[in-house]
Amino acid sequence: MSGKRIIHSPEEIIRIRRAAAVTAGVRDEIARLAHPGMTTFDLDRLAGQLINATGGKSAFFNYHGYPGNICISVNDVVIHGIGRPDQIITESDIVSIDVGVSIDGAMGDTARTFWFNEPDKDTKRLLDGTYNALMEGIAAARCGAFVKDISAAVEKCARRHKLGIVRDYVGHGCGIQLHEAPEIPNYTGWGKGPRLEPGMVLCIEPMLNLGTDSVKLDRTDHWTVRTADGKLSAHFEHMILITDNEPEILTWQKTM
Ligand code: MF3
Ligand code: CO
Ligand code: CO
Repeated sequence: MSGKRIIHSPEEIIRIRRAAAVTAGVRDEIARLAHPGMTTFDLDRLAGQLINATGGKSAFFNYHGYPGNICISVNDVVIHGIGRPDQIITESDIVSIDVGVSIDGAMGDTARTFWFNEPDKDTKRLLDGTYNALMEGIAAARCGAFVKDISAAVEKCARRHKLGIVRDYVGHGCGIQLHEAPEIPNYTGWGKGPRLEPGMVLCIEPMLNLGTDSVKLDRTDHWTVRTADGKLSAHFEHMILITDNEPEILTWQKTM
């Protein structure tokens, strides 16, 4: 892993901050409007309308040919699930949505898992563990620390909750491009990466599984990533700005 990183200018940060807030608003509005009985295709179309209403565009649509407006990953789908007219959301599902909006030359990227029924004990361990791993990763993202410190905090939390850590996909820099340097693995053992400096914008995104960490790519659509053992997976992602003090969570607030 290289020491490459991008420091954004104050002018860029103004635009990135707005793109991130808009994206967070869309994320939470989709989760609020989602309900059992609708299809994942319906949810993707709704997301397209909400994104349109912001004056921005989906950052994912057509990205390397991606066919959806957002990613909708149900149950054993880890990431990159595509909305389908034959996939009905049920009240026992856990649904991960990942939303990206491009607006005024800047990008937002954020994800969350939501659910309808009271989760059972193991599902709750997955949901709490993944969310806590994100927040502990963020807490480690102080200037002067290294990317590895974020990875270590996420990993430690995942282990504490006895969850499988997806290794094939990682967090990343973001802001002007959807994916910028550096990569942010959810595990250690690869080096330490660049030092964190004010002006860096990072997407921290633990993808954690109830069972094995190993995943498989759908042979037909070449996008959908599932757990190899069919057990549940969760995904939470925030975009943060490294500052002189605590990181600023750019995708916390909604401002729609
Ligand atoms: N949102 C994903 C990430 O967090 C990237 C999705 S790319 C797409 O990095 F093409 F699948 F949409
Ligand atoms: Co994302
Ligand atoms: Co991301």
